[in-house]
Amino acid sequence: MPRLDVDLSGRLVVVTGAGRGLGRAIATACAKSGASVAALDSDNQLLEETVSELRDQGLEVNAYHCDIGEPSQVQTTFDQLETRPWGVINNAGLADGVGGLPFWEIDVEDWQRILKVNLTGTWLVSKYATALMIRAREGRLINLASDAALYGSPRLAHYIASKGALIALTRGMARDLGHYEITVNAIAPGLTLGASTENIPEERHQLYADNRALKRPQLPEDVIGITTFLLSEQSSYITGQTIVVDGGFVMH
Ligand SMILES: NC(=O)c1ccc[n+]([C@@H]2O[C@H](COP(=O)([O-])OP(=O)(O)OC[C@H]3O[C@@H](n4cnc5c(N)ncnc54)[C@H](O)[C@@H]3O)[C@@H](O)[C@H]2O)c1
Repeated sequence: MPRLDVDLSGRLVVVTGAGRGLGRAIATACAKSGASVAALDSDNQLLEETVSELRDQGLEVNAYHCDIGEPSQVQTTFDQLETRPWGVINNAGLADGVGGLPFWEIDVEDWQRILKVNLTGTWLVSKYATALMIRAREGRLINLASDAALYGSPRLAHYIASKGALIALTRGMARDLGHYEITVNAIAPGLTLGASTENIPEERHQLYADNRALKRPQLPEDVIGITTFLLSEQSSYITGQTIVVDGGFVMH
C-alpha cells in the first residue's frame, strides 16, 4: 500500500461492504490515515476477518452487521454510531457472479435483487448518514460505481443499470447537499482482481488487458488514493463528479 498523506484523525468514516475486496482495502486505508472506521457488511464472517486484520495492525475499527438493502437495518446501524460520520464510502454492492446473460434473459428476481442492494441500498445509507451530517454542514459521500456502466458492458444489464443510476444519483445528491458544504462524488473502478472477479470469464479479463492504457492488472489498492483524496480537505471544491480509476480502459 502506498504512503498516505491524508490526515483523517478524529474523523469517523463509514465503509459499507468492508468485509473483503475494495471495501476492506478502503477501510484499511482510511484507518491508516487516522480515521475511526465503522465497517458495515451483511456477512458476519467477512466482517470479523476485516476487523481482526485492522485491529492486529493497531487500527481503530468497529463492526456493524448491516444489510444495506433493508431500511430498518440501515436505520438501526446509523442510530448505533458513536458519533456523526465525516465520510461515507458506499462500496457494498452485488458484483460477484452477476453477469453472463443478455438483458432479455435476466430473471425479474435477479434484476430486483441487484437494484435493491446496489442502488436502493446506496440511497438508504446516504439518506440515514446525511441526517446525521447535515447539521454540521460538512462531510463527504463517495459512491462506488463502475466503468462497466460507462463502457456499456454486455451481458450485465442489471449491474450496469444500477451503477449508471449511481452516477446520476451522485449528481443529484451533490446538488441537494451543496448548500450544506457536503460533497458527493463517485469512483468508477475497472475490473479489479479479487474474490468477486474470480468467476468472470477469461475473455472479459482479456478485453481489459488488451485495452487498458496501463498494462498491469488492477488491484483493490489502486482505488485508495482517490478515495482518501476525496475524503480530504484538499478535495473540498470537487462535487458531483465521477472519477474513473481503471488504468485508462475507459476514457470519458
Ligand atoms: N471488483 C471489481 O472489478 C469492481 C469494478 C467496478 C466496481 N466495483 C464495485 O466496487 C464495490 C466492491 O466490489 P468488490 O469487487 O470488492 O466486491 P466483493 O464482492 O468482493 O465485496 C463486496 C462486499 O459487500 C458485501 N455486501 C454485499 N451485499 C451487501 C449488502 N446487501 N449489505 C452489506 N454488505 C453487502 C459483501 O459481503 C462483501 O464483503 C462494489 O460496489 C462493486 O460493484 C467492483
